[in-house]
Amino acid sequence: MAKIETGKLNLWYGPFHALKDVDSSFGANRITAIIGPSGCGKSTLLRVFNRMNDLIDGVRTTGKVLVDGEDIFGPNEDLVKLRKKVGMVFQRPNPFPLSIYENIVFGERIHSDSIKRDAIDEILEHSLKSVLLWDELKDKLNEPALRLSLEQKQRLCIARLIAVKPDVLLMDEPCSTLDPQATARIEELMRELKHNYTIIIVTHNMQQAARVSDDTGFMLLGELIEFGKTEQIFTAPHDKGTEDYITGRYG
Ligand SMILES: Nc1ncnc2c1ncn2[C@@H]1O[C@H](COP(=O)(O)OP(=O)(O)O)[C@@H](O)[C@H]1O
Ligand SMILES: [Mg+2]
Repeated sequence: MAKIETGKLNLWYGPFHALKDVDSSFGANRITAIIGPSGCGKSTLLRVFNRMNDLIDGVRTTGKVLVDGEDIFGPNEDLVKLRKKVGMVFQRPNPFPLSIYENIVFGERIHSDSIKRDAIDEILEHSLKSVLLWDELKDKLNEPALRLSLEQKQRLCIARLIAVKPDVLLMDEPCSTLDPQATARIEELMRELKHNYTIIIVTHNMQQAARVSDDTGFMLLGELIEFGKTEQIFTAPHDKGTEDYITGRYG
């Protein structure tokens, strides 16, 4: 079973039709890249998966979105649970103006009232180890997170998600503020994380999509034009539009 599936998914911002009949299927423990020109609906699609678009006025969504086979627009959907299960990392790392420690345990405190100190410390260590920050930061846990480097901040934001035990990590251009070395290290981290998580990454960086993803979806003007194994998309795309885009011929 797919981890996330959409069927005839449509989304409007007021009168503007931003997603058009999107049928897609995202496999568990895989990295799927969503590529396409600016404004084609990549971020919008990503935000559907944990219903973040609900927070925007005038949004209307139709069609089917299943996470673990469950309709996330169904009447009994628990949004807190959904957003815990499907976490998101953004373009600009956005740690809270709190200590490194507080950044990690913040979500866990929100999601459970009676958690013990030992359990918190365990989560803290596990989360920071998962993003390879533990050795670097274990003696600085009370320092402000805003003092970290951009790369450390982005790793911390990923650790903050991991602390609430998600299944799916949505990453919206997570390396766009990072230099090539830091980008390569985050990509390495993604490969590591996919053993335990399902990752969907939006990227405008074609090389990144080719390097890091198992599957790739190409979007254009709100439509998912082509979806398949990354190797196939980059070597033998079926669609002329996909080919033009990945070879840089897109107008
Ligand atoms: N909150 C919003 N209100 C109205 N239109 C929006 C909103 N967010 C995005 N859009 C429009 O929807 C389209 C898709 O946007 P987006 O998903 O951000 O594209 P991408 O991430 O591929 O650059 C764009 O035309 C954008 O202007
Ligand atoms: Mg975007």
